Amino acid sequence: MSDRTWPYAALVAHRGGGVMAPENTLAGFREGVRYGYRAAECDVKLSADNVCFLLHDDTLDRTSDARGPAAGKTMAELACVDAGGWRGAAFAGEALPTLHQVAAWCRAQDMLLNIEIKPCPGRDEETGRRVAHEAARLWQGATIAPLLSSFSDSALRAAQAAEPQLPRAFLVETIPADWQRLLREMDCIALHCDHETLTRELAADIKAAGYQLLCYTVNSVERARELRSWGVDSVCTDRLDLLQPGKLD
Ligand code: G3P
Ligand code: MG
Repeated sequence: MSDRTWPYAALVAHRGGGVMAPENTLAGFREGVRYGYRAAECDVKLSADNVCFLLHDDTLDRTSDARGPAAGKTMAELACVDAGGWRGAAFAGEALPTLHQVAAWCRAQDMLLNIEIKPCPGRDEETGRRVAHEAARLWQGATIAPLLSSFSDSALRAAQAAEPQLPRAFLVETIPADWQRLLREMDCIALHCDHETLTRELAADIKAAGYQLLCYTVNSVERARELRSWGVDSVCTDRLDLLQPGKLD
């Protein structure tokens, strides 16, 4: 069984900096530091030429000035995309960062990272394997490794096979009945779930089984406090302005 220590913070900034800046950009991560956050989550997939980069959706439409699926574009093409202008003129020209750029920034700032492996359609195993290798390389020698998570169990199993020493979390919307078997098989340290599907009883079961628990996306102080009282270790939030580090408990 892997070491189930949980060094990550009680508050995790969703998609870099939540809604304070364009998602999955370095501008977002900078907002995290400004609000005193010590941990962030981001979504990582592969470009056509196998570079790990940050993007949530399958397509570029919602969060950039480009259109169409991201999967067919090389990193050189993706690097030209404006991933900030859609969020406001102040962010115009913000780049789609590579995992390499984010790792350098996080390590320099002592920001802990939860890398959500978010494969382009049909590339689950390859993405899990490549993201794990890249994360291991980029965080080599770091005191606290990045936490790998995914909704895709095939991506997470590929990450496990590639770099078994990196901590993993299984990510779900609704907690499946066989959660304990899945966590055991993938040697995960944590379960990440939609907070709306969690009950006090399930939280108690998961904690009693020795796993860590993270809930997304929690955007009110009251709900964050309630979840923490149930034993939830971390909440992932968009509202860095409302959920302030040190003022949750
Ligand atoms: O990892 C937690 C959360 O990011 C999962 O949902 O759709 O925002 O990636 P999503
Ligand atoms: Mg995510």
